[in-house]
Amino acid sequence: MQVIHTIAALREALAPHAARGFVPTMGNLHDGHLALVKQARELVGPQGAVVASIFVNRLQFAPHEDFDTYPRTLERDCELLAAAGCDVVFAPSEKELYPEPQGYKVQPPTELADILEGHFRPGFFTGVCTVVHKLFNIVQPTLAVFGKKDYQQLMVLRRMTAQMALPIAIHGGETRRSAEGLALSSRNGYLSEAEKVEALRLSRTLKALIARWQAGERDLAAMEADAMQALREAGWAPDYVTLRRQHDLGAAVEGQPLVALAAARLGTTRLIDNLEVS
Ligand code: PAJ
Repeated sequence: MQVIHTIAALREALAPHAARGFVPTMGNLHDGHLALVKQARELVGPQGAVVASIFVNRLQFAPHEDFDTYPRTLERDCELLAAAGCDVVFAPSEKELYPEPQGYKVQPPTELADILEGHFRPGFFTGVCTVVHKLFNIVQPTLAVFGKKDYQQLMVLRRMTAQMALPIAIHGGETRRSAEGLALSSRNGYLSEAEKVEALRLSRTLKALIARWQAGERDLAAMEADAMQALREAGWAPDYVTLRRQHDLGAAVEGQPLVALAAARLGTTRLIDNLEVS
């Protein structure tokens, strides 16, 4: 496996490979990221190149967020990536990716990007779309894999790729969880042992919301308010708990595939999770 820090060296290394599977990350890797790398390997075939990027993208962090403290663990990440079947790691410095302030940005449409995560993290999806579009231009992958853990991100990036006519197949990877059901996340490292146990409540809350829908209840506003209240009573500060349609995260509609999504702060750590309604 090669670890490459510059755009020029990456282009040279990838030149012989027509088929390229790409997994963008911010590092501090866990089994969720590695599952995406394995999926990319299967999709791209033994002859194709699997590329993972590691870059903590300042553009998608608000000033009060954890850009400075976000865990940076490049050496260990590279060992894990090598074992997962990655061929090339692209780990640019900030100067390499943003040699001058990134004035040109990819602005996603408000109806997709200003709801849910975008509502509580203004500018987040502009930062994500800008860096992913730029990374796509650098890596020029034939396919890219993103996790369903960040459900709205996957949707926003799918639309960007389609609307910009990028010749890249976007694949979604299932959310990997701990044995107890906690969605793996780099930010779980911020949780105390007690908080790690309490954190399981988030996916349980989503399950309870889905169970009420499946039992025939349809007063979504009341059901969502109950779910938020249950989290508050357990000491959480929820941003949203909601049932939406999978396609565009618009209002839940009878007979269409749905997904339950939640974001909430436990102590100082903001966690997100979602479950598709089967
Ligand atoms: P990061 O949070 O490092 O996540 C990288 C990829 O791993 C994303 O596609 C994310 O959805 C996926 N992922 C995270 N946890 C997962 C889990 N438990 N199971 C399956 N997949 C999981 O998402 C980002 O980085 C950034 O926004 C990025 C797309 C790299 C742009 O900067």
